[in-house]
Amino acid sequence: MNIAIIGNGAIGNLLCWFSFRQHMQFINFVRSAPDVYIECTELDGQKVTIDVNQQTLNSVGNQELTQDVIFLPLKAHQIEPTVRQISQMVSQSSTLVLLHNGMIDLNAITAILPNNPIIAATTSYGAFKPNKHQLSITGLGATQAGWLDSSMKDSAVENIINTLLPPCEWSDTILDILWRKLAINAVINPLTAIHNIKNGALCNSQYHPAVAAICSETAKVMNSLGLEVTADELSTKALNVANLTAANYSSMHQDIMYGRQHEIDNINGYICDQGDMLGIATPINQELVNKVKSLEEYFRD
Ligand code: PAF
Repeated sequence: MNIAIIGNGAIGNLLCWFSFRQHMQFINFVRSAPDVYIECTELDGQKVTIDVNQQTLNSVGNQELTQDVIFLPLKAHQIEPTVRQISQMVSQSSTLVLLHNGMIDLNAITAILPNNPIIAATTSYGAFKPNKHQLSITGLGATQAGWLDSSMKDSAVENIINTLLPPCEWSDTILDILWRKLAINAVINPLTAIHNIKNGALCNSQYHPAVAAICSETAKVMNSLGLEVTADELSTKALNVANLTAANYSSMHQDIMYGRQHEIDNINGYICDQGDMLGIATPINQELVNKVKSLEEYFRD
């Protein structure tokens, strides 16, 4: 099977490295000037440099993208424009794997590519790019995935994801999976960015009231949407992921530090929007949105 990985972020680079390690055929599509190598530092400190077949998406022109699996490990706000950009090129048999934090409008994606199999996935693997060429793996996570249309399931494609980002749990209740991951990001991402800490620091008891308060609001919104979960369950899960990725700076922490666009609107902002629609107050999540936005201004000024 042939793989395409779109994007040059930490998870995109991690997929390149893991595909290389598994001897899988892959190509990496990027927005601007291609690089030719990535220096990977494994969890045990071992360093490996790999050659990457990179090409800019624009240079593909009208050629067909025929890869069996096309990964989109992108920011939430980049997914829809990228799917639109590749929609004329992608072969109908290619499966798209959306790999992002936060929530996006999945109906809009299926409307653009109604005939392609699409997988929505989330992963808690930790990776960090100290600079353009370097990738540090900072935590072995877990992946959860589901097919948007279960009649399009393909076990060969599932095997690729099971091999690249193990352990991968498959579920038919994709909304439940996405909300549970959202709830984790709603805790770890803004708190680590605001307090300028690594994920692991959240396990310190001083942060537990904040974790519980965020999870309480998120659980109320989830319950209202018919998803069965308790605030305690969400807190335990979020702290568990913080512990598993203890050495990692969350993606939002990195985005703020490097002046990149972050995903607060698709994470805590999404919880507030859903709360508004359902008549559930979400002042804690709103405060986090405001604080992250003011941090962004602080680092930009
Ligand atoms: O956004 C991130 O950084 C990751 O999704 C997670 C799970 C919080 C680990 O750092």
